Amino acid sequence: MKLIEAKDYHEMSMLAAGVILAQIKSKPDSVLGLATGGTVLGTYQQLILDHQQNKTAYQHIKTFNLDEYAGLSKQDENSYHAYMKKHFFDEVNIPSSQTFLPNGEAHDMEAECKNYDRKIEEFGGIDLQLLGIGQNGHIGFNEPGSSFESNTHLVALEQSTRQANARYFDSIEDVPTHAVTMGIATIMKSKKVLLLASGLQKSSILYDLFHSDVTSSIPATILRNHPDTIIIADQEALSKL
Ligand code: GLP
Repeated sequence: MKLIEAKDYHEMSMLAAGVILAQIKSKPDSVLGLATGGTVLGTYQQLILDHQQNKTAYQHIKTFNLDEYAGLSKQDENSYHAYMKKHFFDEVNIPSSQTFLPNGEAHDMEAECKNYDRKIEEFGGIDLQLLGIGQNGHIGFNEPGSSFESNTHLVALEQSTRQANARYFDSIEDVPTHAVTMGIATIMKSKKVLLLASGLQKSSILYDLFHSDVTSSIPATILRNHPDTIIIADQEALSKL
């Protein structure tokens, strides 16, 4: 894992956007794995700014998101479909037929998950996967204890994860109990991984990420076995290292 230290959230976002833009420039038909959450918002804003200024082309880019809540419709403002549309897709010229997220409302969830993995393979696999990290070490929605062999699947969310994400909902009861997520094996197949972390609330888990053995009780530690992972974190997130 290669660590890049940023001064603050803004610098982390600028550096992350730089890595993504370098990927797009070197391969204009890249397959990008995308993430949601607060950490990556600034990165999308930087990419949008770049698109406005430099007209970076997204016509040939394909995107696959990590996860989606189960049971939320695509139109629900808290769905990751809605998040991506609002914070990124609507602002760059990417054809909607080239952006993919798991369908959290699928009747046959098993078929949905298999299809999702198959589609990723059909496009040649993910070139660059953007990741945040949960305070419990989850990546995507792969909670502690998730198998490192897992492909895209349905998961029950930990209470602490629902609590951490409750800020976007009216109340914790409204936070879905389940989600569909790319599995750890899906994530590990990405050619390059870019993990971002910002703020004091991520300082303990970043300490664990660098100091703990690779263990399924801290899912993100698997990235230590990935040949090309970049971590960009700000000073607050790195303050316990
Ligand atoms: C959420 C998402 C993850 C995200 C993480 C951190 O639960 N499923 O993909 O990386 O939690 O979120 P945040 O960046 O808001 O701290």
